[in-house]
Amino acid sequence: MVVLISGGGSNLRALLDAADSPLYGARIMAVGADNPADGLAHADLFGVPSFVVSPSNFDSREAWAEMLLENVNFFKPDLVVLAGFMRILPAEFVRALSPKLINTHPSLLPNFPGAHAVHDAISAGATETGVTIHVVDEGVDTGPHIAQRSLKILPGESEGELHERIKVVERELLVETVLAIAEKKIDLNQVSKIS
Ligand code: GRF
Repeated sequence: MVVLISGGGSNLRALLDAADSPLYGARIMAVGADNPADGLAHADLFGVPSFVVSPSNFDSREAWAEMLLENVNFFKPDLVVLAGFMRILPAEFVRALSPKLINTHPSLLPNFPGAHAVHDAISAGATETGVTIHVVDEGVDTGPHIAQRSLKILPGESEGELHERIKVVERELLVETVLAIAEKKIDLNQVSKIS
């Protein structure tokens, strides 16, 4: 797989740790980012190649995404994982990889899509939230669900505290889901057809 990140890359790190075991049936061929993200250090540590394609170097979102896609495709991955990749990808990018493009999102979709899912769940007074891993479609966090795991929101919990607890669950679910895809226990074509 190729993993795309924007930030600290704790989900990436969980995948790198898992893939380090010969018993794990998936490998990370490269890590990409839309900025010189801190998480790229994890890739360096594991000797995994990385690339940065920053939108500020391009005239349009489409031109940026085309270059990002070129970098991804260079590695010919079977799967592309958005793990905290905080930019919306244009339809051409999604179509070129679909359904082998998945995203992890810190809420129980369809509740609280978008970049502020944890904040939005607390603001709405929700008592439960969680993680969704889904196939990426052309909308924002609207693609077919592959796996979900829920979590109670504790009274008085801050956004940061809740997000940290979500991320513990998120890392586990991502590692398990990627393995299930690699072992063909989950068929992304089927997931996309069903919904
Ligand atoms: C994750 O919760 C991801 O779902 C969200 O941002 C967070 C990224 O965390 N979109 P990290 O960079 O993997 O630590």
